[in-house]
This record gives sequence, structure tokens and C-alpha cells, in this order.
Amino acid sequence: MGVDQLRAWIPAGGVEEALLGQIVPERLPRHVAIIMDGNGRWAASRHLPRVEGHRAGIDSVRDTVETSARLGLDVLTLYAFSVENWKRPATEVSVLMGLLRRYLKLELDTLLRNNIRFTAIGRPNELPTEVYHELLEAEARTSRNTGMRFNIALNYGGRAEIVDAARRAIEAGVSPSSLDESRFGEYLYTAGQPDPDLLIRTSGEMRVSNFLLWQIAYAEIWVTDTLWPDFRCQHLLEAVVAYQKRDRRYGGIATAPAVAAGVK
Ligand code: FPP
Repeated sequence: MGVDQLRAWIPAGGVEEALLGQIVPERLPRHVAIIMDGNGRWAASRHLPRVEGHRAGIDSVRDTVETSARLGLDVLTLYAFSVENWKRPATEVSVLMGLLRRYLKLELDTLLRNNIRFTAIGRPNELPTEVYHELLEAEARTSRNTGMRFNIALNYGGRAEIVDAARRAIEAGVSPSSLDESRFGEYLYTAGQPDPDLLIRTSGEMRVSNFLLWQIAYAEIWVTDTLWPDFRCQHLLEAVVAYQKRDRRYGGIATAPAVAAGVK
């Protein structure tokens, strides 16, 4: 996978191709994480029930996953259901669970065809049993794939993840003196994966909403007013172009982005 695979997939002469032409393949973010927001507002603006926004959001998920895999990202993480989302009306929660099952059923072949490895992060074992089993099956069926890692954050909370990691480290008998940031990272849900370089949030909200709190320490944040159901390949490419213009300092001194080539 890589820029050429994506070029072959997008319309010739369109805005996507122009954006792709601005992307430096050697400086792609390795991990992109997305807070998918604005489904409710998308539906309300069309006088539709909120769940129609979630339904439409599936097309954005499909497009974003395929764009990311073809572009050559190592990891894509989508925030689909937070530990706080249980406070929503039971019918909305149930539609979201149904959409997730449907997505897994319909998209498994696409994930396999694109060599994508799927993982659920969070506390998915607390989801309805049939959803959990579907997730386990998708993980098992894609576990040998060597291409992009696709994480869906489900029943996910950033603080809960840190607590879970601390518990696991204690259970594993890690001694306080041997515990450092790198060791602690081995107990996070994303163990072994690079931290997100780029965090995208749709619908204009300026919040991190308890998402990947540990891992986004040095992530570049890009917020778009586009509502999630309208988010497509074009928007992801806009985010990557903007990311490549940033000067990542990691607490150090400024360097021109061109000079920082190769630094992620
Ligand atoms: C936020 O919009 C969106 C969610 C809480 C759910 C996102 C879920 C999907 C796109 C569908 C299922 C996902 C997968 C991966 C198959 P909101 O409802 O908070 O919107 P609002 O802020 O406009 O009310």
C-alpha cells in the first residue's frame, strides 16, 4: 500500500488527487486517531432522528478505513463508543450496537482484501455478548494480516485505560522501581503500536473527550467543522497535508518542517 495505491482509487483530476500531490510519502503520520463527532447534528439538520446520523456515519468509516490503508498508514484508530456513551437513550445505544455488528459482517471481506488487522480497544467484553463475539471473530479472522492496524475504540475511556494498565502491571508483578513510561506503555490497550501522530476531530469541537489520553501526549491536533457523516477521503488528505506543515518540537526548539523531514 502507498500513495500510488490511493492514486489509483481516487477520481482523476479531482480535489483528492490535488491534495495527494501535496503529500510527502516519507513523512506520513504513522498513526491517525479520529474522534468521530457530529452525527446527531447532521441528522437534526435534515430533520431526521439522531440514529440516521450514525447510520450515515458508517459510509464515512468505510471510506476512511480504505483511504488510510491505501495511503499506507500503520495505524488508524476510530472512537466509536465511549464509557460515557451508555448515558444515551437505550434505543440509540442499541442502534449503535446493531450498526457495529452490521459493519463487521459486511466489511470483513474488505478488511481481509486490504490486509487490514482489526482490533477492538477499550472494555469490549462489557458490550452485549453477541457484539463481543462478533468483535472477537473479526479480530481472529484478521489477526494474520500484516497491513494497517485498524483499532475501534469501544466502551473506551482514556482514564479507564490508564487504570486498567496500572492494574495489569500490578498483576504482572512489575516492581515500582522498574516501572517507567516505556514499560507502562506495554500495559495499555495499544501496546506495541506507535502513539498517534495526528488526532482529528470532526464537527468543530475543541475537546479530547477522554480519548487516548496517555498516547496523544505529542499528537498534532486537527479539527474540522465537517460533521462526521460528511467526512471523506478529501478531509483525511486535508488533515495529512496540514500535519506535514506543522513543526513538531516534542518540547525542544523550533526546526523548519523541511529540515525535520523524517522526524515523526
Ligand atoms: C458522535 O456523534 C458519534 C458517536 C457517538 C458514534 C460514532 C459511531 C458511528 C459512526 C457508527 C458506528 C461505528 C463503527 C466503527 C461501525 P454525536 O451523536 O455525539 O453527534 P452530536 O454531537 O452532533 O450529537
